[in-house]
Amino acid sequence: PKSYPVNLIDKNWTERKLYFRSPAKSFPEMIHNMEVLEDDVWVITNPKSGTTWMQELLWLLLNDCNFEAALSKHLELRSPFLEYDFVMHTDEQRALKPVQELPSPRLIKSHLPLALLPAQLWQKKAKVVYVFRNPKDAWVSGYYHGVTIGFNYGLTLEQFFNGCLDGENIKLESIEHAAEFYQLRNEPWVYYTSFERMKLDLRAVIEELCQFLDKTVTEQQMERLLKHLSFEEMKKNPTTNHNWELADVKHENALKTVYNFVRSGKVNGYKDELTTEQIERADRLIEKRLQSNKVTLKELL
Ligand code: A3P
Repeated sequence: PKSYPVNLIDKNWTERKLYFRSPAKSFPEMIHNMEVLEDDVWVITNPKSGTTWMQELLWLLLNDCNFEAALSKHLELRSPFLEYDFVMHTDEQRALKPVQELPSPRLIKSHLPLALLPAQLWQKKAKVVYVFRNPKDAWVSGYYHGVTIGFNYGLTLEQFFNGCLDGENIKLESIEHAAEFYQLRNEPWVYYTSFERMKLDLRAVIEELCQFLDKTVTEQQMERLLKHLSFEEMKKNPTTNHNWELADVKHENALKTVYNFVRSGKVNGYKDELTTEQIERADRLIEKRLQSNKVTLKELL
């Protein structure tokens, strides 16, 4: 599509209040109408797809590889999560403040689908970076994250995973979410990649991002980026482990089981966690969604 897909707004997404668990009624309109700046960079993903990894990388590219600054401030303050305050709180007036008060160039994280992102994204042509991840890995990752922050308290992985495959469940919509951005991958303002590609060749992804953002890094900076962004370094980095989220945990028992946010970082790690039957059922349902979106998993990855 060459123009903003207003038709999609009416389609499915706005009815899916659950998608955002948002108590704020004006939430879709406020975001749809918000101001976008020309030099914004937006990181859009489905949850648990390597968002934080990509955010840390982009923040460093946008800030002259200032590792000291990165290490001295929590990532969510450097790169806020657009809809977080709408999801967790009801104060609509405050909800967009973290983004509005951010110095330029702003790096903004969102899990919203294309249709619910600000209309100005299409007019201003701010940059959008999309990261896809095999949904089975993303869902398993989401289970452990959800246990930690209380959403999945008391659920087994099996129960949670079966819920992901439930016909009414929004989790399968991760395919539509990605397919819409995949269609736009050749637009000059869109860079589409995957967790799997980042694992396979992070250097190549960094080089492509440098081109996309019109940035250069020296070989020395590249070496340091690769080390800083490695799984081992990010696992022990307090600014990239979502410690801030624990402050919002409401369930009194949730904090009894805490998984590190940067947890196992594997491609196809789901194979060690799910039964063959679950995997086959997931594959069938994912395949159906892929077909209705005219895209293959191989393409999206
Ligand atoms: P796992 O739970 O499978 O380990 P998001 O930021 O979108 O919530 O994604 C979180 C997932 O990205 C987690 O997956 C986390 O471990 C993984 N991740 C974060 N940083 C990573 C890194 N440097 N290398 C590999 N995986 C990383």
